Amino acid sequence: MKVLAVLLSLFAVGHCHLCLLSPPQRGSMSGINTPAANDCILTTGPCGGRQPGRDATFYGRGENITVTFMKNLDHYNKTNPGKFVISLSERQTVAPKVLATVPDAGEPSLHIYSVKVMAPMEPPNTMHFLQVTYEPNNAQAPKAFYQCSDVGFEPRP
Ligand SMILES: *[C@@H]1O[C@H](CO)[C@@H](O)[C@H](O)[C@H]1NC(C)=O
Ligand SMILES: *[C@@H]1O[C@H](CO)[C@@H](O)[C@H](O)[C@H]1NC(C)=O
Repeated sequence: MKVLAVLLSLFAVGHCHLCLLSPPQRGSMSGINTPAANDCILTTGPCGGRQPGRDATFYGRGENITVTFMKNLDHYNKTNPGKFVISLSERQTVAPKVLATVPDAGEPSLHIYSVKVMAPMEPPNTMHFLQVTYEPNNAQAPKAFYQCSDVGFEPRP
């Protein structure tokens, strides 16, 4: 009985995934068109244990950024739904500022969310990371799933 419970909880942990499509998440993003992709189950904050890559996406200050992410596998809590949070942080001082919060409305696995946020007036030429978390509020899943993308801001022309 105990073994079964442990197996069940491991199985449940696998049922909750997040991938950041645009700007692209750090590291690989393979097999994401299939539910339960390994690249969508990163549970260590702030960036799933992934280090900054060589590439970053640059935006103008105050520009509108479309953030596109995928609920790779659904783990909806009907009683008390979880949420997705989009934040921005300077790479050096990890202090995320929340740009948008999206409720988990029970969308199916592989659902893609597109959210428009405004790039804040950060000092130009400082490296940041955009972070998306999925906090499913589900006792049978990790507290949060993390993805980050490296971004920078340029002065507006
Ligand atoms: C960003 O979007 C807002 C609201 O949709 C709009 O009012 C604003 O002009 C946009 N900013 C830019 C720089 O496009
Ligand atoms: C859903 O949320 C409620 C209220 O926070 C909690 O009591 C319940 O355990 C959650 N359900 C699951 C499956 O975790």
